[in-house]
Amino acid sequence: MRTAKRNSLFLLLALVALACQRAQSQAPQKAAAQSDAAVYETRAKHDPDGIGKFYLGREIAHVMGYQGASWLERPERIEEEQPDKVVAQMKLKPTDAVADIGAGTGYFSFRIARAVPQGKVYAVDLQPEMLAIIEQRKKQFSAANVVALQSTETEAKLPDVVLMVDVYHEIAYPLEMMRSIVKAMKPGARFIQIEYRGEDPTVPIKAVHKMTVAQCRKEMAAVGLVWKETKDFLPQQHFIVFEKPPKP
Ligand SMILES: C[S@@+](CC[C@H](N)C(=O)[O-])C[C@H]1O[C@@H](n2cnc3c(N)ncnc32)[C@H](O)[C@@H]1O
Repeated sequence: MRTAKRNSLFLLLALVALACQRAQSQAPQKAAAQSDAAVYETRAKHDPDGIGKFYLGREIAHVMGYQGASWLERPERIEEEQPDKVVAQMKLKPTDAVADIGAGTGYFSFRIARAVPQGKVYAVDLQPEMLAIIEQRKKQFSAANVVALQSTETEAKLPDVVLMVDVYHEIAYPLEMMRSIVKAMKPGARFIQIEYRGEDPTVPIKAVHKMTVAQCRKEMAAVGLVWKETKDFLPQQHFIVFEKPPKP
């Protein structure tokens, strides 16, 4: 990545981190009440890009505020994150129900919607402002099979496939959120996690916004998901497939 491009990426992430405080305060209070405090550790000395809260040895990142929504739609993302290839690699059936958790502007949701014409896409996000953008784009694209949902409503949806792109590292209550998602998934359903590669220092993304495969596997094992495969076709990210064990 050229220096100017990298600098603008860092600048944008810094702006987004500043904007995130508000989004963080919107995290459902219910989750806090339900949290198993013992699994989280708070450290006074921490990365300024993180929230000072650690889960299984990893610091959780700030939520990317809706003020940075245009960054999600940047044209160079097509080359950097290859969204059409990601959707092709999801190997979806036309009837699949897919949950795009932390959907943001629906960058992936609307692409997935074309791959599941007889199915549904649940575009789930924490921030109402992101959901408003999704609703607006749903009209613009006449995408009747996209349903915008606030994150607390995932439990009843039982999707076949759950996708999280560049989201998991900033979920403030990963244990509670993943338990709720796993509970909502059908036995045998897949959970696909895409994260910037934490093992690679040349990936120009802040440390708490990246994850290693080992860390992802540790955190998904903690909620009973079984690792199936890691695909490394993306220039900067891991594409990791987990499965909810089929019923015995
Ligand atoms: C970096 S953006 C990625 C958006 C989208 N996945 C993409 O790749 O274009 C992260 C998104 O995750 C959302 N998010 C963070 N924590 C969440 C949670 N607990 N439940 C649902 N969405 C969450 C944020 O509101 C934000 O829209």
